[in-house]
Amino acid sequence: MQPQQLLAVLASGETLSGSRLAAEAGITRAAIWKQVEALRQRGVPIESAGAAGYRLPWAIQMLEDSAVRAALPAAVARRLGALEVHWEIDSTSSELQRRGNAAADLSIIMAETQTAGRGRRGRSWLSPPGLNIYLSCLKRFEAGFAALSGLSLATGVIVLRALHALGVDGARLKWPNDVLAGGGKLAGILVELSGEYQGPCAAVIGIGLNVRLTDALREQAGQPAYDLATLVQGAPPDRNAVAAALITSLVDGLAQFEREGFGAFLDDYAEHDALRGVPLRVSGALGELDGIGAGIDIRGALQLQTAAGLCGIDSAEVTVRRA
Ligand code: BTN
Repeated sequence: MQPQQLLAVLASGETLSGSRLAAEAGITRAAIWKQVEALRQRGVPIESAGAAGYRLPWAIQMLEDSAVRAALPAAVARRLGALEVHWEIDSTSSELQRRGNAAADLSIIMAETQTAGRGRRGRSWLSPPGLNIYLSCLKRFEAGFAALSGLSLATGVIVLRALHALGVDGARLKWPNDVLAGGGKLAGILVELSGEYQGPCAAVIGIGLNVRLTDALREQAGQPAYDLATLVQGAPPDRNAVAAALITSLVDGLAQFEREGFGAFLDDYAEHDALRGVPLRVSGALGELDGIGAGIDIRGALQLQTAAGLCGIDSAEVTVRRA
């Protein structure tokens, strides 16, 4: 029995005895225990219910490409390149980069678990199976890097629109592109560009969305984290539906970005800007600067009202903290 098969069997949330699992899989109870331990090592919160067996604390849905595809509007499905769901991969974004020119425009790669998930600023992105969404999308642009400023901020708006389509409101944006809720990080976005400054180029847009966090994951995250289950105060939407909403919003939003540029996202960003009017400390290569968040400009630069006047802060150079 592979770990993904065991997880699929446990997905209902029912308690299943070791002997029943062993009989169904045609392996020993010791072998089942080994697989349970392997999944626990990956961060899956399998509980031992004494002699009764093993269970998950809640039901989960395994990701399936057919279920994601079935939940996509036909017009979106037609525009997609590849749509792949892997059990395990180092990083969905690294995989799209490795594909290079072989990957069609608007190709989507998702994985149940990543062994080397990457975050911004060289951080890792913990990616246990069965709990969250790890999704990357390749988008090609003809206009070159110069036209792409604001793309990562626009992606934050795209994630919020997907949540809204799922009936989930209450998330906000922390510049440049963290999606926050309840004071913690609900989703992270990593946009990586390749190609030419003034010619054809490609963006690999990676999104990690917390659907169900465990206590261990919260502790290891290194920053306050939040999940969809807490935001909706109950069972979160099916992960396949969450993935389909993200993909739909990406396909529509990236077309809008290509057509109209970042300006088309400014109002939505402003409406959900968690930093506007908030005292901030901006730390960057040039030292620290205190001020009040004053929105963002058309390039996506943070506007900081300081004692010396309004400063534009470029995303590549700074970190932002509440003072
Ligand atoms: C951040 O640090 O806020 C960005 C996190 C981005 C994580 C996602 S998960 C899918 C994709 N694959 C990766 O390795 N990283 C991104």
